Amino acid sequence: MTDKTKIAVLISGAGTNMAALVYASRIADAPYEVVLVASNDPAAPGLALAQAEGIATFALPHRGMTREAHDAAMEAAVLQAGADHIVLAGYMRILSDGFVERWAGRMLNIHPSLLPLYRGLDTHARAIAAGDSHGGTSVHLVTPELDAGEVLAQLRVPIVPGDTPDTLAERVKLAEHQLYPRAVADYVSRWRDPVRLLDRVRALALALPETDERESHGSPGFRVGGEKGGKFFAYFSDQHHGVAHIACLVRTGSMDELLALVEDQPEIYFKPAYYGASGWVGIILNRPGVDWDEVAEWLARSWRSVAPRRLTRLIDAADAF
Ligand code: GAR
Repeated sequence: MTDKTKIAVLISGAGTNMAALVYASRIADAPYEVVLVASNDPAAPGLALAQAEGIATFALPHRGMTREAHDAAMEAAVLQAGADHIVLAGYMRILSDGFVERWAGRMLNIHPSLLPLYRGLDTHARAIAAGDSHGGTSVHLVTPELDAGEVLAQLRVPIVPGDTPDTLAERVKLAEHQLYPRAVADYVSRWRDPVRLLDRVRALALALPETDERESHGSPGFRVGGEKGGKFFAYFSDQHHGVAHIACLVRTGSMDELLALVEDQPEIYFKPAYYGASGWVGIILNRPGVDWDEVAEWLARSWRSVAPRRLTRLIDAADAF
């Protein structure tokens, strides 16, 4: 399978989370593959495992280098390996803002606490000292502020009598090894997740005036004009009629326009079964880099082509200014 997301894993130590990510990636249908394991410590035990698994490795000690220079060297190795996401797994370096910003939305970290509790170090000791009933682990997006990016997934782990920071850390790692591969897989698959895609289309469609949602031939459809006499201006189509696409169907102006779109940009547009015959176009949503502003514009245009006069009049008047 060639459409797997390529990830680089950065480690500083044992690399047990890296190992969990690697083995999960070897299970059929995993949506990502590990193309590089890199470390700021050439002696990190995880590197040897990665090598034994036939994965490219890169190691560069940070001593004597500025943070920016070290980050730049790590980033160069990541790019050279062809990775499009960076997954931090026990990488015990604070990253420079520039590096983090360049990978915004494409860099994940796992942190051994239930964020927003206990950012930074010594998380297990702090949770025990506070008398917490649970520690845990969080997978989050990396932003310039330490351990503060959006939390994508969490698992709670009980603190038991007699726990020390080490015994708790060990138990939390068991949870991490389950959570991280799943969270990474979900994250890199988000652009082809029909539930998320429908949520986005629904939010855009129902933001237009006087709209409602109604199922039509098994697909969610969006109408304008009220309960009686409402007209459909969009459908959400999840791999219907044997096509591989998850798509939003909207009205074009004419068959000529539809055919030109499909011919010029077949990676974005297709002629849907049945609806295509009446000039509807399918906008393919299960591809990386969908321009959602463009989807919103199509929905608005399609809405307008069937909305009652009393609604479009106001918009026409506003447009005239
Ligand atoms: C993991 O528990 C991870 O959550 C933690 O380091 C450990 C690495 O273990 N990360 C941090 O503390 C980041 N601030 P591993 O090398 O065996 O995966």
